[in-house]
Amino acid sequence: MGDLVLNINGANLHVNAPTGESLLSVLRNRLNLTGTKYGCGEGQCGACTVLLDGRAVRSCLTPASVAADAKITTIEGLEQKGTLSPVQQAFLDEGAFQCGYCTSGMVISATSLLRTTPNPAEEEIVRHMNGNICRCGTYPRILDAVKRASQMIAKGGSR
Ligand code: FES
Ligand code: FES
Repeated sequence: MGDLVLNINGANLHVNAPTGESLLSVLRNRLNLTGTKYGCGEGQCGACTVLLDGRAVRSCLTPASVAADAKITTIEGLEQKGTLSPVQQAFLDEGAFQCGYCTSGMVISATSLLRTTPNPAEEEIVRHMNGNICRCGTYPRILDAVKRASQMIAKGGSR
């Protein structure tokens, strides 16, 4: 076991976890941040995606210790003072989910794209989101949601 201090959604949180435990496991099982989902556990589905210093990473493949020096953002950290982020709002507006299991990872991946590329072409969105799997097949609405979020950001919405 080892003591870690993780900066998650702006707060420094202390956790005691075995060496090598994944960030996903620490988030869900030790910190009760269950918005980040366990899908495949092998880096293939994107359900567990979080931001490390603004970059989308698979938390199932990221040891928590590796994240100790980074700013970690989970789906719980996107909303600010009761206001959804543009990407969250756009997913809601477009109804871009059915069961919702993939949604956290989709929203986080789209957030990372729009922070570096606020006005992506459709092909860029598809390429960037390609590693996020939706078993319900809501891809057309997800695409529309990312485009809508891009437009919201262009009108002054915070990323
Ligand atoms: S649970 Fe991490 S990529 Fe599937
Ligand atoms: S909405 Fe069900 S997996 Fe995407």
